[in-house]
Order: sequence, then structure tokens, then C-alpha cells
Amino acid sequence: MCGIVAYIGDKRAVPILIYGLKKLEYRGYDSAGLAVINNQKLEVVKKKGKVGELAKSAELKGLKGNIGIAHTRWATHGEPSELNAHPHLGCNGDIAIVHNGIIENYQSLRSLLIGEGHKISSETDSEIVAHLIEKFYEGDLEKAVLQTLNLVEGAFGLAIIHEDKNEIIAARKGSPLIIGVGKDEMFVASDVSAILKYTKEIIYLNDNEIAKITKNKVSVKNILGEKINHKVEEVKWSAGQIEKNGFKHFMLKEIFEQPESVQNTLRGRLYDDKVKLSVKIQPNKVDRIIIVACGTSWHSALIGKFLIEKLVRIPVEVDYASEFRYRDPIVGKNNLVIVISQSGETADTLAALHEAKNKGANTIGIVNTVGSTIAREVDSGMFLHAGPEIGVASTKAFTCQITALLLLALYLKQERNEPLDKKLLKEMKKLPQRIEKVLEYSDDIRKIARKLSRCNDFLYLGRGINFPVALEGALKLKEISYIHAEGYPSAEMKHGPIALVDENLPSFFIAQKDKMYEKNLSNIEEVKARKGKIIVLGTEGDQKIAQLADYSILLPQMCEEISPIVNVVVMQLLAYHIADLKKINMDKPRNLAKSVTVE
Ligand code: M6R
Repeated sequence: MCGIVAYIGDKRAVPILIYGLKKLEYRGYDSAGLAVINNQKLEVVKKKGKVGELAKSAELKGLKGNIGIAHTRWATHGEPSELNAHPHLGCNGDIAIVHNGIIENYQSLRSLLIGEGHKISSETDSEIVAHLIEKFYEGDLEKAVLQTLNLVEGAFGLAIIHEDKNEIIAARKGSPLIIGVGKDEMFVASDVSAILKYTKEIIYLNDNEIAKITKNKVSVKNILGEKINHKVEEVKWSAGQIEKNGFKHFMLKEIFEQPESVQNTLRGRLYDDKVKLSVKIQPNKVDRIIIVACGTSWHSALIGKFLIEKLVRIPVEVDYASEFRYRDPIVGKNNLVIVISQSGETADTLAALHEAKNKGANTIGIVNTVGSTIAREVDSGMFLHAGPEIGVASTKAFTCQITALLLLALYLKQERNEPLDKKLLKEMKKLPQRIEKVLEYSDDIRKIARKLSRCNDFLYLGRGINFPVALEGALKLKEISYIHAEGYPSAEMKHGPIALVDENLPSFFIAQKDKMYEKNLSNIEEVKARKGKIIVLGTEGDQKIAQLADYSILLPQMCEEISPIVNVVVMQLLAYHIADLKKINMDKPRNLAKSVTVE
């Protein structure tokens, strides 16, 4: 959470910083600010609200400098306000810092600084970093930052400037930070989307590293001050991939990209009779699998459990990363721990990965963002190749994660010398076309959304492999439309939630022609008997269910293993259209951030 961008070069910094902040706004958007060295004088502009508020500020016009740092905030300590917005300065107003992360020992450092006469003006944990650097500064900014980093506990991505210096100091521990290398110019950013327009040459800083950056040189040290050699890596994403390309919102664009993104996850891995992966696993030695993740990625983990247990018969446990990390989990050498993360930067998932590694497990990452911390720290892994996901609500990453888990389940089976079901492999190849077909229903789904957008609560119900799809449908709706929604296993409804059912409560059933069809039908009847509104995601040709439901979307028959990947697209579209009809900018829903790099 929070986005950082910084620039040093010959160009005017302000437009580059504002562009970068706009691209990073998905990481947080309750205030934004920037600091530029303007005629050797540090100038700061901060505004409450989205980056647009900062961008239209008249105060930016006079800022001509070509060194600057900027920040878009997701509040952790202190309310969203101009005062708490970054950059933060020391008492003399000559040092400015932007910070992503949390300084855990800030209370004691704050007392220490106040005792020494520092005037701390904001409620943030971040401001003390500026004061500590000021305290240690004797003309060498890098040295003062190093001294500061040895005192602070917690997580940080930092960019720092001093008005007397033609340099930016960047440092990282637990919060992502990259350096973009240009021709006579350099960039610092929380992720590549902020700087992709200017350069694809990237240095990925590691934890406990500090970089001194001038317009044509980057030197990196570890926290002990020892020199580190970093290679410059080229990112493959294009600048076009982070634009909306004519879609009204990123979320809609990303929903419509799914035929292609799923194809990209399959590419080079799925063949007519085999699966090729480069993960390092000895399948016969794995006696238990644990999957850890958060949010939408946790829902894909639940589907992964279903797939692996069904196809490979290895027991699988799924845990919230935030719970796993703190409960001293039982993990052994013969356990495989799979971590799933779109961003590859989620703090809880990263900590769960560390826990698993410390306990000696082999770890696999299913990650979208190349170069991200989780991707670099797992023993081996699979990239989704879904392309950048900008909308805060995860869509294409989810379908690609399930696709990757399905490939992994098949790979485990194959490596245990068990035959693969060729029909399933064939079905998987058709996934992109199947998703295309669902996308054709977008207008119909909007019509349903129009009827339901004023409801206050929703139930999402599914069974077996489609129960996590119900959970995901509910999460999508609540996070972008602010409508309360719950996902439940269909049969579990009668043990409580059925008390909520009346003519105002829509229940969205996934009830396709599978082995649970008749059972689902009974559950639908139970809701119908209580006058509840019913939406059904069923199977093409099923007139019976269509008549029972108030609204129905009927999709061609498909095999169970691929059904979550196809079905969830209907849920994504429904949530999108309801949010859009409610005039909510679902790319940046309130209180949320794309990448949750705090606990
Ligand atoms: O980047 P990650 O997959 O690790 O993110 C996990 C969650 O924060 C994320 O899925 C979140 O729940 C999304 N807002 C869901 O749409």
C-alpha cells in the first residue's frame, strides 16, 4: 500500500511524478504529495484526496526542479489529511522523505526525538524517519540514512532527498521498491507501472538495501554499508498494457482480457498428452500440501485444494496467510507449501512464506508480478503471465491462478506416473473460447444488475468446487459495490442464513448439471418457498431451472475442473455492472488498496 515515485534527470520532475502517482494510485488514494528541489530549495505540495487533487493544484506550476519524490497514501497511522500526507520533512525543511510501510517502534523514537527538541507535526509513523535523518545528517545523506535504518524497526520503502544534494537515496525492507535506469535519468518506484513509459531497464532492490542514485549512476549497499552488485533486468510488460484501451474501467478491461490471460498461463505448459512445468518438486516425497494466500488468492487456493485432492489424492490444507504466520503451524520437510499472490508483495503472504521456509518446507509460488519479492524468495514457481492487473478488484489473476493450480495438479499426477485424463486436457485448451462465450452475456448481466443494484444484501451459493466461486462472487460484490454479500455452501444455507431470506434478498445459485444438481434444486426451492429472489448460473438447455429462477444465465455444459474459471466471469460482470450503475469507481474502491504491504 502507498505508492512511491521519484525522479532525477534533466527533465522537469513534476509531470513525471504526477504521471507515476496516477499509475500507482491503485496502491492508495487518500492523500498525495510531492517534493521537488526547485532552485536548490525544497518545495512541497500535498493534498488530501486522490492524485487528481494534487495534479490540479496551482502550486505545482512554479516548480521547475528536476529532482523530486512523490507519494500516494493509504492511511495506516493517522487519518487521511493534508497534514499526514507525504512527503514529510525534518525541522529545517531541507530533507524530505516518502515512505511505504510501517515503522513499528515509532512511538519510542518519537519520544526520543521530541526529547531532543524535534517538533513532530503529523500523526504518522513516517515523519520520524525524516527527523532521524536530520539528526544524523552531517553532509553525507547516504550515511545519515544508514544510521537511521539501523534504528527503525518494521517495514519500509523509502525515497529521500536533501536540497543540497543532486541525488536520491532509496531504501527497502519489506516494502517493494525498484529503480528504473534511463539515459541520463533515473527513477524510483513502488512498481514498474509508474515508470514503464520511460524505461524498461529495472534494478530490483532487495530487503535491507540502500541505493544512492544520481542521474547517471546507481550504487547499492547493504544495511552494513557493504557494496552490492545488481544486474539491470528488462521488464517484458509494455506501456500499452497499463492503459485502459477504450474500456470504461480497468476492471472491465481486465475481465475482457481473460481469454488471452488464461491462454498465456497455459502457453508452453499444456500439451495434448502432458504438462510441462519447471517447478522443483519431488512429487513422490510430498505427503501433504499447504496453500497460503489472502483475499481472492485465498479463494483460488480453496479451488486448488479441491483440484489437487481430486486429481492427485494428496491431502491439502488451505490457510489464510495472516493466520498461518502466527500460529506456529506444523510444517515438515515432506510438505510442499504453495503461496499464491497476484502482486507478490502481500505482507502476510510473504511472512507466511518465510515461516514455511524456516520450517524446512519446499515452497512454490504462483505469482503474477515478475520481479516481486515473493517470486524471488520461493524455491521455484509459476508465473501467471496475466499482464498487469490494475483494478483493485482481482479478476484475471483469479482465473489464471486456478488455471495454474490445475496445471500443477496435473503435473503432480503425471510425475507420480499416473495417467492424465486427455479429455480434461482438451477441455482446458478450450478455456479461452469458453470465457469468450461468457463475455457475450455482459449486456444481459447488466440488465440483471439494473434490477438488483438497489438491494442491500446478497447471498452467493455454490457447492463443491464452486463453493469458493460463491465466496469470490460475494467478495467481488462487496468490495466494489459496497453491498453486503455472503458466500455459503448451498446446503449450509438452511443452518442459519435462510433466516435472512425474504422478497428483498437475492440468492445467487451456481447450479449446473453436475452430480449435485438435484440437491441444488432442492436448495433453490427452499429459497423460492420463502419468496426470495433467485438468480441462477445454470446449464444451457435447462428450462426447469430457468423457470424456477427470476434471472438465469445458462452456460454450455463443461467439466467440473474448469467450471470455476468460466463461472466466476459471470460473478465478476455482475459485480462490475452493479458498481458501475451505482456510479462507483470500482478501480479504486474506498478503503482498499491493490497491494497490501502492511499487516
Ligand atoms: O496480491 P495478492 O494476490 O497477494 O492480494 C491478495 C488480496 O489482497 C487481494 O486478492 C484482495 O482480496 C483483492 N482486493 C480482491 O479483489
